Amino acid sequence: MGQALIGGLLDSGWPPDQITVIDTDPSTGSLLEKNFPQCRICAQAGSAPASAQAVVLAVKPQVIRLVCEQISAHYQSTRPLIVSIAAGTMVRDIGAWLGEEFPVVRCMPNLPVLVRCGTTGLFAGPDVSETQRVLAESILASVGFTLWLEEETLLDAVTAVSGSGPAYFFFLIEAILEAGQSLGLSADQARQLTVHTALGAARLVEQGDQDPHALRRAVTSKGGTTEAALEILEQEGVKKIFAAAIRSAAQKAELLSRSATSPTNNNSSDANK
Ligand SMILES: NC(=O)c1ccc[n+]([C@@H]2O[C@H](COP(=O)([O-])OP(=O)(O)OC[C@H]3O[C@@H](n4cnc5c(N)ncnc54)[C@H](OP(=O)(O)O)[C@@H]3O)[C@@H](O)[C@H]2O)c1
Repeated sequence: MGQALIGGLLDSGWPPDQITVIDTDPSTGSLLEKNFPQCRICAQAGSAPASAQAVVLAVKPQVIRLVCEQISAHYQSTRPLIVSIAAGTMVRDIGAWLGEEFPVVRCMPNLPVLVRCGTTGLFAGPDVSETQRVLAESILASVGFTLWLEEETLLDAVTAVSGSGPAYFFFLIEAILEAGQSLGLSADQARQLTVHTALGAARLVEQGDQDPHALRRAVTSKGGTTEAALEILEQEGVKKIFAAAIRSAAQKAELLSRSATSPTNNNSSDANK
């Protein structure tokens, strides 16, 4: 995720000499030097400029507490904006591990950031200024669509809808292309037809002035092929199954956030998995 963000920032015109990457693992450091030769790569926060406007925490939730404690002293006098993408880790915990009063934005991106087509929900903690909101948004917007949430608890819904969302669409694509193959299409034909249909349908919803329900009605002629398929989906309660699945993901996200904040935690949650 960190590398996707760096790539997005560079593609959107951020000067590479303004980007410093910190990774404690020497082998990852070498890979970063190869992938981003114009950026500065450091093995510890102490070697990075404390004057940074923003520090992005793109580490696993298991290590974020340790990382906050490691960088806290270095950034104490400058207090840059902290942008965390760690799943299930709350703003107040990050603030407490850093030593309070750091401006913290918590984000929930998703996997398509790898192709600059991500979807990210953002929540700003109490000490974040308007300028810092704009900065956080511009970092995540370099890899896709962004949406601000006014309540942190809504990030559980974001996790369930867009964080885990790519997997629902992968599942649907898998089901449709398998069905296509069972009708005699080759694997490649079924894949191309399904993927392009998914892209086209998403684009119509995104750009058109009709909602998905109206679009669905528009492509369903009385007594036609689409109606025959949709009748089966209705009969089998597919909408209800999706509602239950997404509710279950949101409940899991809430549980993982709560366990990550409990006083006995070792912060081992990973809500995006
Ligand atoms: N992947 C997703 O789809 C997704 C979606 C939403 C949110 N997220 C969140 O994004 C975060 C990163 O996920 P990821 O999948 O990109 O994980 P990842 O591939 O493991 O990347 C984490 C990076 O942080 C490095 N790191 C570990 N400890 C460090 C330290 N003390 N100081 C500096 N760097 C350190 C790791 O190095 P090593 O490899 O040497 O450990 C690794 O390069 C997670 O918190 C996850 O919850 C991920």
